Amino acid sequence: MDKTSIHGMWSSRLMFILAATGSAVGLGNIWRFPYMTSDNGGGAFVLVYLGCILLVGLPILMAEILIGRHGRVSPINTLRGLARDSGVSRHWVAIGWIGIVAGILILSFYSVVAGWTLHYTFLYLKQLAGGAAITDPGATFAALLGDPLELTFWHALFMLLTVAVVALGVEKGLERAVRFLMPALFVLLLMLVVYGMTTGFMGQAAAFLFKPDWSVISGGTFLSAMGQAFFTLSLGMCTMMTYGAYLPREGVSIGRVGIAVALTDTSVALLAGLAIFPVVLSFGIDPAGGGPGLIFTSLPLAFESMPFGIVYGLAFFGLLAVAAWTSSISLLEPATAFLVEKYGVASRKRAALGIAGLSWLLGLLSVLSLNLWSEARILDRDIMTFIEFIANDLMLPLGGLLIALFAGWALNRTILREQLSDMPEALFTAWRWLMRVVAPALVLIVLARAVL
Ligand code: PHE
Repeated sequence: MDKTSIHGMWSSRLMFILAATGSAVGLGNIWRFPYMTSDNGGGAFVLVYLGCILLVGLPILMAEILIGRHGRVSPINTLRGLARDSGVSRHWVAIGWIGIVAGILILSFYSVVAGWTLHYTFLYLKQLAGGAAITDPGATFAALLGDPLELTFWHALFMLLTVAVVALGVEKGLERAVRFLMPALFVLLLMLVVYGMTTGFMGQAAAFLFKPDWSVISGGTFLSAMGQAFFTLSLGMCTMMTYGAYLPREGVSIGRVGIAVALTDTSVALLAGLAIFPVVLSFGIDPAGGGPGLIFTSLPLAFESMPFGIVYGLAFFGLLAVAAWTSSISLLEPATAFLVEKYGVASRKRAALGIAGLSWLLGLLSVLSLNLWSEARILDRDIMTFIEFIANDLMLPLGGLLIALFAGWALNRTILREQLSDMPEALFTAWRWLMRVVAPALVLIVLARAVL
């Protein structure tokens, strides 16, 4: 008999796909992917990123879902149980701890940036009600970043929204958000791509995104691409492992759902690129080196000049906030589930609130690094970029590397085969070698190249 999770179960395969896609698709695709591409010189970065998704991301995504579905509890307890059953070292539990720490760090700045999207949603609402237009997006954005109180307010509001859903548990709350609003975001992005075509700059934008210029590539580029691949698929911090623990066994193929999630996530990122760069180019902005403000300083230019632009602007930032919301929930869930298992189910609200509170406090460092402490540098980075670097570029790949090794070497074949029962033998063998050798080697090479 298959075990079920005490945290609840997804009501169907579709619900899992929606929730996992909701986790994957977020600021990583629409805010971070375009500016990382812009900062790393375009096409070559995109190509390395796609390679990382295919050879490292997708196979590890399957491994995380598989480990979670087999264990049925929060990552730390799942790893503890699996290590015991397989007769391997209990130190594998470290993967779970890396995940919890990375999750708290990521949520801290994620919520700050999601706060920007709430602020912009509000700005467009005000405009719709007759408020002032955003005529100089650069100045509007700078004014927001320069105001620690304003940033803290939206950061707090977003964190509360996240806690509210996690406190309710996995089945309630999440379903509506992902079922209707994510497809709406997809359609809106498509409409922006069509608008991009009317600017006459689509060709140039596509060339920037897809024509690799290898001369701008360095060890750092590989690390950023790898980090982005992990971040965008919500990998390396046991999020997908946690969601996998709530996934029913019957009739659900891990290979198929993994492919569905990875494909959707990648398409949204590429669509976001195709939506944003024509606007950037048509307004004469240099596509290279856009930085974290890229979408906030470029897209409003388009919204102010297109018919019904204000409505688009409102819908775009509103839906982006929702996409961020369905991701932030999944950043909070692993640690919350762990505390619930430790202290009893009644404490879910308190567990979520405690972790989110800690993350919110840490987020204040990011808030301040945008204004009062903007001069502070750690390893050449401002504080927010430093936290992002440690969590996204180092901890996630490291977590992913260990997950791959755990699935490849520690878990016995019978468990793997049972979870991937519908996978043809040849594919299964290929997947296993990706886990054992290829993915760990690629992550190690990239990590080593960047530090050495
Ligand atoms: N994948 C999310 C995004 O792209 C971020 C995330 C990372 C969520 C890690 C959960 C875990 O926005």
